[in-house]
Amino acid sequence: MKNLKYYFIQAQKEKWSIGQFNFSDLTQVKGIVAVAEKLKSPVILGTSEGESKWFGLEEAVAIRNVLRKKTGLPIFLNLDHGKTFDYVKQAIDAGYDMVHFDGSKLPLLENIEKTKEVIKYAKWRGVLVEGEVGKIGTESSKIYTEKFEINETDLTNPSDAEIFIKDTKSDLLAIGIGNFHGTQATGENPNLKIDVLKRIREVVKNTGLVLHGGSGTPEESVRQAIENGIIKININTELRIAFTEGLKNRLVDGEIVPYKYLPAAQAEVEKVVERKIVLFKSAFKA
Ligand code: 13P
Repeated sequence: MKNLKYYFIQAQKEKWSIGQFNFSDLTQVKGIVAVAEKLKSPVILGTSEGESKWFGLEEAVAIRNVLRKKTGLPIFLNLDHGKTFDYVKQAIDAGYDMVHFDGSKLPLLENIEKTKEVIKYAKWRGVLVEGEVGKIGTESSKIYTEKFEINETDLTNPSDAEIFIKDTKSDLLAIGIGNFHGTQATGENPNLKIDVLKRIREVVKNTGLVLHGGSGTPEESVRQAIENGIIKININTELRIAFTEGLKNRLVDGEIVPYKYLPAAQAEVEKVVERKIVLFKSAFKA
């Protein structure tokens, strides 16, 4: 199996994106991997700190290993929004393929220093690191009934991104270009600021750019983002909604057998993953 770096290089060259699909339950993982297998797509399974504390870091690694072996697919595991060196280290030691260190709330220089500490530990263990500059607001699974306003000062400043990458040499960089975690109640978020993405792309040429908050992003915005250098897109809220709705709809008749009601939740997760993999153009890239 080729490593994750290979797929990021291919994605950059051929202008497609790898989906990172977050999970906290085995049924979600089964749904994600079933679609990846059908569409022969590489995938990244993502766990936030909260998701991995519930599921278990070692358990997530074990499941990735089993599914890789069973399907022969390039299935990778990322720690999403790691906040402290200690927790990121635990994920690396458990066997994650990559870690996202989110120091975006820190002043730039402190963010750089903390990210470098993570990279130093990750690098010689063969683990890729995603850094973050700019504030990607809000939380996954929030559904906003009022129009969500993006604060211009939260967008990634291209010169901050340039300084960050020159100093840290992070493999990937998560940026704020009008994206946010969660979705608006309409199901469709505001368009991304592609002009900001282009300015960032110009100054951080060889670094893979990552789009967080993929749920609800208008499809045309996603296409343009991929065209302009986004090579990894994170999806969580839409998967959580799909899983929960699938489950609720199936539980109305009093079914109590998990293996009879969970497939309904899995089927809804699969619909989301299939739409995204097609949109991200990662099908048949495994
Ligand atoms: P959404 O919940 O908006 O899909 O964002 C997921 C994400 O970016 C995880 O890091």
